[in-house]
Amino acid sequence: VTAQLDPRGDVAVLVPAAGVGSRLGPGAPKALRLLAGEPLLLHAVRRLAGAAGVGCIVVAVPGGQVSAVRELLAGAPPPGVSLIVVEGGETRQRSVANALAGTPAGFPIILVHDAARALAPPELVERVAAAVRGGHPVVIPVLPLIDTIKQVDESGRVLATVDRAGLRAVQTPQGFRREVLRAAHEALTGDRTDDAGLAEMLGVPVHCVAGADLALKITRPIDLTLAELLLADGSLRR
Ligand code: CTP
Ligand code: MG
Repeated sequence: VTAQLDPRGDVAVLVPAAGVGSRLGPGAPKALRLLAGEPLLLHAVRRLAGAAGVGCIVVAVPGGQVSAVRELLAGAPPPGVSLIVVEGGETRQRSVANALAGTPAGFPIILVHDAARALAPPELVERVAAAVRGGHPVVIPVLPLIDTIKQVDESGRVLATVDRAGLRAVQTPQGFRREVLRAAHEALTGDRTDDAGLAEMLGVPVHCVAGADLALKITRPIDLTLAELLLADGSLRR
């Protein structure tokens, strides 16, 4: 598999952003919570739009928020990167399916990226897209695990210590040849927390590339605090 040229604009990024953010506690939907004074989603879209190859961003937002989000994101993508806002669904998978349905033709590579991973660096986006461009039908960014992992029963008794060496934590953006993502979504129903899992079930090989610490998923209040500190640190571009 060889990396090919990096033409601007062969990548569309789908951004599921319709979740409520229950683990973050009460407040606005997670994608609209403020991080350093701006909604999470604005941070996410700005970073995605800064990655080479991205020509289109399709965001799936909570019901009733489509025009508000259109306004919010109007100035974020540079000229040449189109922005589409659609309504999300009941589940993450449904939100991704809605975004895929709203994606114009002409983008052979589709990335799916959680709005909640608002600080994912453009280099990570480019790394995933390059691996798809280079011939891998499905690509996921992964990190080694930090904690020791144990299997336990319902009473809390330890059954086994899992060998960590063969395990990886999976992030987004996940990358797909467009027809593979479409087939995966057509074939399967229910909810899944990642899209590569759909492709695996169809027997499509899934390729790993290195993930990034900055692509952490903002899930709990402590994650939001960490993200604030990372931005305040100044080593991170807004
Ligand atoms: N998401 C979505 N539509 C849904 C549920 C989730 O688009 N019906 C999106 C979220 O907005 C988020 C991404 O999927 O960007 C990952 O989901 P998660 O981090 O779990 O976000 P929430 O579901 O909002 O959070 P929680 O599970 O704590 O409620
Ligand atoms: Mg969720």
